[in-house]
Amino acid sequence: MTGTGAPPFAVISGAQVQQALRGRERQITELVEDTYRLHGVGDSVNPPSYFLRFPDRPSARIIALPASIGGKLRVDGLKWISSFPENVAAGIPRASAVLILNDHDTGYPFACLESSIISATRTAASAALAADWLTRGRPRPARVGFFGTGLIARYIHTFLAGNGWSFDEIGVHDLSAGSAAGFRGYLESSGTAGRITVYEDAEQLIRSSDLVVFATIAGEPHVTDPSWFEHNPVVLHVSLRDLAPEILLASTNLVDDVEHCLKASTSPHLAEQLTGSRDFLAGTLDDVMAGRVTVPAGRPVVFSPFGLGVLDLAVGKYVYDEVTRSGELHVIDDFFHELRRYAPGPA
Ligand SMILES: NC(=O)c1ccc[n+]([C@@H]2O[C@H](COP(=O)([O-])OP(=O)(O)OC[C@H]3O[C@@H](n4cnc5c(N)ncnc54)[C@H](O)[C@@H]3O)[C@@H](O)[C@H]2O)c1
Repeated sequence: MTGTGAPPFAVISGAQVQQALRGRERQITELVEDTYRLHGVGDSVNPPSYFLRFPDRPSARIIALPASIGGKLRVDGLKWISSFPENVAAGIPRASAVLILNDHDTGYPFACLESSIISATRTAASAALAADWLTRGRPRPARVGFFGTGLIARYIHTFLAGNGWSFDEIGVHDLSAGSAAGFRGYLESSGTAGRITVYEDAEQLIRSSDLVVFATIAGEPHVTDPSWFEHNPVVLHVSLRDLAPEILLASTNLVDDVEHCLKASTSPHLAEQLTGSRDFLAGTLDDVMAGRVTVPAGRPVVFSPFGLGVLDLAVGKYVYDEVTRSGELHVIDDFFHELRRYAPGPA
């Protein structure tokens, strides 16, 4: 915040967010890596996400992710993100979100950003980062499979491609034939060279993929047979609740944050409940990046990222700085108005 007087408050639209992030896959993936490292050394505050649920709309939820990040970024804030799965049938995305950024020194909110794009972007960057680190000790996967092919799957593919990945084979599986066809259309328009196959059979998709991306909206495990993973793929379990605990127990498991991930009936949470311990967890992605954990090649690897508010803050602040630099920041005049402690009384 600069100068004196009323602290400025800006609103940043989805169009501006997209403009600031377009084509920056590598930069954002590096930013997410730096943020995981900051979080790993404790230079962040990231309390548990709060889930608001509704008895009259059981499939819906709104999640609050408050967070604070240190380092060069020094910003606090909150992502407030809705998930209404029925939206998709009505022709609008499942998730919608805003991100509030708060000033480190005064606490004043200084920006409100459209955040469904920021959220999808940080999720995809985290997935691409994990794909890179978790495949280092094995042949680089040339066959990728997308299990659930909505908006998040699209962003993850864009981030893999933007980070230099290319695939000989791209498998696609979705309960909805329309979603699978839509994703296939996106892949074709992206100019990918790989051969695209739509699998109706989930088992075939997994057995045909060395890198598997789960991005469904399943509320409980629907993939239960560990033998489907006997070729030891790397699994990006972004939707968190697809895999039965038995599959996790036969795999090397990594998460983004242990306390966060072992909650809310995620598959790792179910594995903890089943075994009564956390011994099935190898550690966090940051542990792998810092060399504290080595990923064995001879087992499936499952990365279950709960999704950390610090990532939204880091990407949101990046967008804010880019929009400010471009001179296009839209400040709302007089947003904070009651600024004198003792305004003159009525005459
Ligand atoms: N971990 C994180 O940080 C993080 C962040 C953002 C989103 N997500 C999760 O990613 C998931 C996908 O989000 P989205 O916005 O792409 O949703 P979306 O509604 O756009 O797409 C989900 C797709 O999954 C398909 N699907 C549902 N159940 C399936 C099943 N059992 N098998 C195969 N396909 C199935 C649907 O038909 C749909 O096409 C959500 O679960 C969301 O919560 C996770």
